[in-house]
Amino acid sequence: MFITLEGPEGSGKTTQIGPLAEFLRDQGYDVLTTREPGGTRIGEQVRGILHSLENTSMHPRTEALLFQAARAQLTAQVIRPHLEKGGIVLSDRFADSTLAYQGYGHGLPLDALRTIIAFAAGGLQPDLTLLLDVAVEVGLQRRAAGGEWNRLDAYAIEFHRRVQTGYAALAAADPQRWVKINAGQPPEEVQQAIQQVVQERIRVGKKPVNPLPTMAAVTDRLPSR
Ligand code: TMP
Repeated sequence: MFITLEGPEGSGKTTQIGPLAEFLRDQGYDVLTTREPGGTRIGEQVRGILHSLENTSMHPRTEALLFQAARAQLTAQVIRPHLEKGGIVLSDRFADSTLAYQGYGHGLPLDALRTIIAFAAGGLQPDLTLLLDVAVEVGLQRRAAGGEWNRLDAYAIEFHRRVQTGYAALAAADPQRWVKINAGQPPEEVQQAIQQVVQERIRVGKKPVNPLPTMAAVTDRLPSR
């Protein structure tokens, strides 16, 4: 199972992913956590370029392609191998961040982005995406208070509002995959809500798709003598 956490800046994804991994490991699952951009030696170097406050002249298309470069490496080197051996992968951001930030935020065409995402990720899609939803101002304040401030955080507030609108649109378009979590609550409550959703998904995922009919159902269908 491939689970992604998405959301605007300061939504608390990074805080929540560790406890979620522990919760699943306690149940015996083989869980790998990672993040985007990054998660590999090459990807972490690309992250440095993307985040550097010195790179203010970066064009949105350059930005979109660098995110895909990091994603291609992470998918091939880390995510796919773990899924193939039956493990659970939790990722702090994935392809939906490209659609929300480079698509809705910068206004790059979504179709073109979907094409490069599919190329980078080799068609891999999350099974479940948790949208940690928080007001843009609250998220940015949390971010600034946390002492971490990168080139993307520094985009205008209007950019971050468009990102949030984008997330809402993406989630509304695919309600089977997306679940919205209120990330404005205290972190323990956010974690509880996340655990409930994930537990339920795993339970449903384990159910056989076409359960065998029960004996009663079979005998009901037999012609009466
Ligand atoms: P974060 O890991 O601290 O959230 O920083 C990652 C930043 O990169 C964040 O501002 C979201 C942004 N981002 C994109 O713009 N596009 C992407 O595809 C990804 C993965 C992240």
